Amino acid sequence: MKSRVAIFGSGGQLGVELCREFGHRGWEVVRFDRQSLDIADACLVETAIAKADPALVINSAAYNQVDVAEKEPLAAFQANALAVRNLAMACRQADAQLVQFSTDYVFDGTKGSPYVETDPTHPLGAYAVSKLSGELYAQAYLDKPLIIRTSGVFGPGGLFTPRGNFVELMLRLAGNGSPIRVVEDHVASPTYAPLLAERTAELLEKNCTGVFHIGGGQPISWHEYARLIFELAGVNPELKPTNEREYRTAARRPRFSALSNSKMESHGVTPMPPLREAVAMYLAARKSVTPHRSE
Ligand SMILES: NC(=O)c1ccc[n+]([C@@H]2O[C@H](COP(=O)([O-])OP(=O)(O)OC[C@H]3O[C@@H](n4cnc5c(N)ncnc54)[C@H](OP(=O)(O)O)[C@@H]3O)[C@@H](O)[C@H]2O)c1
Repeated sequence: MKSRVAIFGSGGQLGVELCREFGHRGWEVVRFDRQSLDIADACLVETAIAKADPALVINSAAYNQVDVAEKEPLAAFQANALAVRNLAMACRQADAQLVQFSTDYVFDGTKGSPYVETDPTHPLGAYAVSKLSGELYAQAYLDKPLIIRTSGVFGPGGLFTPRGNFVELMLRLAGNGSPIRVVEDHVASPTYAPLLAERTAELLEKNCTGVFHIGGGQPISWHEYARLIFELAGVNPELKPTNEREYRTAARRPRFSALSNSKMESHGVTPMPPLREAVAMYLAARKSVTPHRSE
């Protein structure tokens, strides 16, 4: 059997970890970052997948600028929806399995408890609509794609990407010396990228297909999360709570978008450790990485 995997979005936070994880597990990894290939280009995608002839295609590339997407919904739709159609059609041609990453933002946040895979979706903005459309395209062209929804991804790769991640943003703000305001009325389940990559590989080893949630496992408000980051980083900036009414953003976001990992766990995939451990792992990892990514 072929053990080659093509990973799109290999320069992103999750992509870096997927390349590492699948490499460690003995897969031959063919990586595509933004510079080498734009997944919105159907011809390039078709040619690249035909040439690589992988058993598995993993797409962690995405347009993730939730607020900017409200000004340029077409750009978000091209990268998050139509590009997934390109990948799905190419996978169909090459008889390859597709893994597509999606988001907790496909939900509207009104449930008030962790979302399970069968909960109805109701995206609240252009980014969320584009990601849900990506799911639909994967399901439209392929019988058994694996769709993994995740939440608040943070990984050492974020040290090198323009958008970074929430931990880096908080540490940067802490260095500025001004009070930091973070919303206390929005709850998610922040997810450490290396653990997400590991569990993705586990799901595949168990031949799981369909929709799965892999979040960090712990619902937490962004304000409490910031507090945890500062505590573990040993810094003490002035942290103040704010809320959706005071802190208006261009995009609407779900108030409670934490994901339940119960389906993943019921399939025998390793549960996530407490968020405190994941953040501690991140803080340790970011000390040892250099600005020259070799993955
Ligand atoms: N980050 C989060 O908080 C979060 C939350 C929920 C779900 N997710 C999902 O999790 C997955 C991984 O996210 P991540 O945190 O690893 O994101 P990331 O760090 O922003 O990486 C995404 C990568 O995709 C690339 N990309 C964007 N448009 C592309 C295109 N048209 N062609 C090729 N590459 C393109 C980006 O390149 P540039 O940097 O050059 O644009 C970037 O390297 C995505 O599906 C995302 O939607 C993320």
